[in-house]
Amino acid sequence: MASVLVASNRGPVSYTLGDDGTLSSRRGGGGLVSGLSAVDSQDSLWVCAALGDGDREAVRRGVAEPGVRMLDIDPEVYHDAYNGIANSMLWFLHHHLYDVPREPVFDAAFRRRWASYRAYNRAFAEALAAEAAEGAAVLVQDYHLALVPGMLRELRPDLRIGHFTHTPWVSPEYLRMVPDDIVEELLWGMLGADELGFHTWGWASFFIGCFQQREDSTGHAQGLWPSGDPWYGVEWRRHDTGKGRTRVRVYALGVDGDELRALAHRPQVDERLARLREEVGGRKTIVRVDRTELSKNILRGLMAYRELLTEHPEWRGEVVHLASAYPSRQDLESYRAYTASVVALAEEINAEFGTDDWQPVLVSVEDDFTRSLAAYRLADVALVNPVRDGMNLVAKEIPVVSDAGCALVLSTGAGAHRELGKDALTVDPFDVSATAEALHTALTMPAGERAERTARLAEAATALPPQRWFLDQLDALRAPSD
Ligand code: F6P
Repeated sequence: MASVLVASNRGPVSYTLGDDGTLSSRRGGGGLVSGLSAVDSQDSLWVCAALGDGDREAVRRGVAEPGVRMLDIDPEVYHDAYNGIANSMLWFLHHHLYDVPREPVFDAAFRRRWASYRAYNRAFAEALAAEAAEGAAVLVQDYHLALVPGMLRELRPDLRIGHFTHTPWVSPEYLRMVPDDIVEELLWGMLGADELGFHTWGWASFFIGCFQQREDSTGHAQGLWPSGDPWYGVEWRRHDTGKGRTRVRVYALGVDGDELRALAHRPQVDERLARLREEVGGRKTIVRVDRTELSKNILRGLMAYRELLTEHPEWRGEVVHLASAYPSRQDLESYRAYTASVVALAEEINAEFGTDDWQPVLVSVEDDFTRSLAAYRLADVALVNPVRDGMNLVAKEIPVVSDAGCALVLSTGAGAHRELGKDALTVDPFDVSATAEALHTALTMPAGERAERTARLAEAATALPPQRWFLDQLDALRAPSD
């Protein structure tokens, strides 16, 4: 039995099945992996889903990494829950991405997918209930598992349950599109937690606003008890489960500066950097690195770069845009189409402005962390312009790693803007012309100012490294409630 449990859709390890039937494993990185490493591994368990055939085979063969339990959920149920609800509904909702004349559609097919989402959440709740020691702390992650806290609370009232949302939270107004019973299920699912965590107060207050909106219409909830920093309480009363309290807190995840700098100075990154330098040929660089998600606003970023080359022709031949847009969620047609549009627009810009010895955009659609780190080091300008983003760690990573300091062009849509805004060049993510101007300002920023801003950005970016972020949540969860 474990006394600290983490639950997330994607786990810390994945398996690939070779043609000869052998299984190979690969450990992932990320904030949660380094966060959990702060607690005693004898005592902790990570519950995650088997994502593909390799993972499923590993579960069947009983090949388990210590401290990890993978759930082999029926592939159709998993597909409908992950692609059909988490990525196609909840992601679009929290990022305000719907093309409203066409979407969302809440029909019988949606209801079937929602039933799968419920079953997938239940599988997690049951596994956690079976593995948790008396009074254990359970930290549930993200929109995939929004119903788990409520389900788990019913199964194991003794547990301390936390939930952290890594994305933004939908605004109360936007949530009105969703049928009442689904909203109710979603919010009550979350309110099963003792503690709810968000990256910023903006997202946290949207959650509270959604709750208040329900309170008005259903009379089920009892209101808020705003208290002093650093948390807000939501007090609720539900006819079937009685009265309870959920605290809402903010933990602005940052990066581990020492670890990141060490990663960025490994020999393979040095070697990649040397090759990139050759490709760039001594020109200035504008760097962006994203998973190709619709919320990242890569297309408007490229449009802004095109406008920069049009409005400020002095930059032609003098700057290169290094854009890493690595694939994400390619099972979804909208993601495949978006990736294709990014590549097509980059090619258009290259065709329009490129010369024999200058390629304006170097786009990479490979998931190549070594190249990304090399690009970070080379960055004169970092472009981070999401329409809406829970935090955006790239905005925090580039200033920490860039060799000569970089000017950060950052949109108000990124959660990171709350901490980094004063030393960044702020842009409205929809304003392409203003973004083009900000790129020009960034490229011409005097070296001294750039270095000073970068130092302050790096300090803010490393204020809450992943281990501290994780331990702070654990401490809050274990603290006696009043
Ligand atoms: O970036 C936000 C986020 O919710 C992360 O917390 C999470 O790891 C990721 O998105 C999920 O992405 P994927 O669908 O590739 O697992």
